[in-house]
Amino acid sequence: MRAQVGIVGAGPAGLMLSHLLHLRGIASVVVECRSREYVERRVRAGVLEQGSVDLLREAGLGERLTREGARHEGIELRFAGEAYRVPMTELTGRAITVYGQQEVVKDLVAARLSAGGEIVFEVDDVGLHGLDSESPLIRFRHHGREVKLRCDFVVGRDGSHGVSRGAVPDGVLTSYERSYPFAWLGVLAAAAPAVDELVYAHHERGFALYSLRSPEISRLYLQVDPAEKLEEWPDERIWSELGTRLETVPGGTVNTGPILEKSITPMRSVVVEPMQWRRLFLAGDAVHIVPPTGAKGMNLALADVALLGEAFADWYTYGRDGLLRDYSRTALRRVWRAQHFSWWMTSMLHRLDRHDPYEQQLQLSTLRYVASSRSYATSLAENYVGLPNV
Ligand code: FAD
Ligand code: DHB
Repeated sequence: MRAQVGIVGAGPAGLMLSHLLHLRGIASVVVECRSREYVERRVRAGVLEQGSVDLLREAGLGERLTREGARHEGIELRFAGEAYRVPMTELTGRAITVYGQQEVVKDLVAARLSAGGEIVFEVDDVGLHGLDSESPLIRFRHHGREVKLRCDFVVGRDGSHGVSRGAVPDGVLTSYERSYPFAWLGVLAAAAPAVDELVYAHHERGFALYSLRSPEISRLYLQVDPAEKLEEWPDERIWSELGTRLETVPGGTVNTGPILEKSITPMRSVVVEPMQWRRLFLAGDAVHIVPPTGAKGMNLALADVALLGEAFADWYTYGRDGLLRDYSRTALRRVWRAQHFSWWMTSMLHRLDRHDPYEQQLQLSTLRYVASSRSYATSLAENYVGLPNV
């Protein structure tokens, strides 16, 4: 097989890059270790920044997003028996859209396949070779057959457990990491959301988040210990704990219903620099992970792709390599802003592993400061909706 750009990973980022390249007349092939059904059903993120929505719309993918996505102009912070609304749009002129990551993936897969694009699902043993030559090779097995995909460039978008990062020789990359002593238990439930906007709750028993997907489907998260198993969380315990942490203000009820899906995700922060080595470009969760409290992961992955789309267009149309050479430096500015914001939101809202009354008072003071200062609230809001220029 041959392509100008070979992409490893059919998450939102790999698929979006393939689509953007197609719009610019550049041929790509995406290889993905899971099945189409699996990637289209994987429940994860739900918040799209304004910039991500604009990118999807400009790329012709706005139709279902506009119809089914919900525009939100504020979020609520709930703490110490109080509720405070951060009026994001009033403060920044921008908004977020709630639209499930798997819906973005479905739209992208449909767009690629209807345009004749090639996504090879269910591949095994992916290996990257010749990355320091002008024609690198992606080798993989597909239905028992050995396949070689020759390309000009390889883009590693294979998430946090992929192979791309490991293809870079030792000593080239620097990794900055932080792990947190907690995880999120996320549930998708067939229950009408009792909220119009997302609620981020600070509670002495731990953080909770009330989000939604549609008028019939709620998405909720609970801070749990990373060592806990899903078996320890029967549905009744989940609803009871969500009630305790969220029903702390008048009218602040949680609607219950059948739980359709649940999973536990440990929380960590990672940045790997640089995001390029020779003919390999790394993007998305393959090189940066944020704790989900700031809702940044998918947005960062899409922002990387927007840069790469333009950089490859400049290379193939005009033979210029400036944007490709600048890719890592430019992308990392946004990555580090999102790292700080995600760490800050996480530190402000979660119960710490050790009981530390001093730090708990600092958290409450920070929350009260957001609630009482327009400039502090604006800082939260502009990071949350996404800074256009970082
Ligand atoms: P992925 O989506 O991980 O895609 C990588 C793809 O590569 C996968 O399909 C994988 O199967 C494939 N792959 C892996 N290894 C190989 C291999 N060897 N060969 C071929 N293919 C391979 N982000 C937000 O912006 N907003 C949110 O509200 C938000 N909430 C979240 C909530 C939870 C509970 C979680 C877990 C994450 C959340 N995120 C959120 C983060 C977001 O889901 C990720 O940042 C996003 O999926 C990153 O996209 P990606 O394309 O880089 O990687
Ligand atoms: C959702 C996920 C997040 O990580 C977040 O901060 C807000 C909402 C969600 O899945 O809806």
